[in-house]
Amino acid sequence: MAVVALALSLAAAPRAQAAGGEPSIAKKHFGTLSNGKKIDIYTLRNARGMRVRVLTYGGILQSIEVPDSGGRFANVTLGFDNLSDYVKKSPYFGCITGRYANRIAKGRFTLDGRTYQLATNDGPNHLHGGNKGFDKRVWKAQPFRRGDSVGLVLTYTSPNGEEHYPGTLRTTVVYTLTGDNKIRMDYRATTSRPTVVNLTNHAYFNLRGEGNGRILGHELQINASRYTPVDKTLIPTGKIARLGGTPLDFREPTAVGERINSRNQQIARGGGYDHNYVLDGRGLRTAATVVEPDSGRVLEVITDQPGLQFYSGNFLDGTLRGTSGHLYPKRSGFALESQHFPDSPNHANFPSTVLRPGDVYRTTTIYAFSTTA
Ligand code: BGC
Repeated sequence: MAVVALALSLAAAPRAQAAGGEPSIAKKHFGTLSNGKKIDIYTLRNARGMRVRVLTYGGILQSIEVPDSGGRFANVTLGFDNLSDYVKKSPYFGCITGRYANRIAKGRFTLDGRTYQLATNDGPNHLHGGNKGFDKRVWKAQPFRRGDSVGLVLTYTSPNGEEHYPGTLRTTVVYTLTGDNKIRMDYRATTSRPTVVNLTNHAYFNLRGEGNGRILGHELQINASRYTPVDKTLIPTGKIARLGGTPLDFREPTAVGERINSRNQQIARGGGYDHNYVLDGRGLRTAATVVEPDSGRVLEVITDQPGLQFYSGNFLDGTLRGTSGHLYPKRSGFALESQHFPDSPNHANFPSTVLRPGDVYRTTTIYAFSTTA
């Protein structure tokens, strides 16, 4: 992996995104935390003009600019234009989520006969790594270029006991922007003691452009015939249920809004879609495809993970002002989080999330962008 010197010229480049030219990476100062730590923003650009901005705070994908069918670029991920909003009010926009993405019931699990009590930061449950998860940590960044790809190696070492998780967890997340408009995310972690781990990225998408209305017209297809139904606190009941015949079945491309108000206990519990889909197949495969009919923008999520949380942005409430200055109403963004199933440490019938010393946690997810015509 060749590490190249930074081309700082891009920071001053005009906003028009002509395709062509060399892929590049530029680094700029984004903000300073209250403890004095400086946060950088890296702009990755490929030869087609796609641009991805990444923060060293939380490894956040701050913006993703991709073309529509007519070649017009828009930023399709929700975010903020300043560090303070990320620190104070982000609902996990674009971040690396860990150590355990999604929920652990009552913040408690037992491993090798020892019980661990984590923070309960979501009603009675633990969510997305606790009070100060990976989304709120400062990551070291090392840019690289390889062929027509550019990327960033992000590293963070989580000390033993951080957020009450056992083991020192050495974590690396490599973001690669490829020449063909894919964001590839390669995760790696090792531990000093037996622990649990479940990492994901929490980008919210609106393929019309962030701040440009709701996501209800997006056509979604998920390659899953089963899911993990939840209780009232959004913890899996332990059942792995068939999707057939339910308004949660997205095996055929369907507009997100078409059945979101169906009278269905699971939809009521999520306040819309907020469910873990048990993906069909194994290995790196397409988990979901989203088509936005007006712009023609297409997002494909490819992953090697067993599950995918589809969250339809039900908790957005119109109070957050996003990157371009628009408010984000309810369901103006959706997330597709590749993952192990929620609360796996408490369900022996779910794929294991235990990581032991000497073993290497590895996973890959790709956001692939294209257009319909
Ligand atoms: C969860 C939602 C939660 C959201 C927080 C999603 O991953 O499934 O229930 O509210 O994250 O932003």
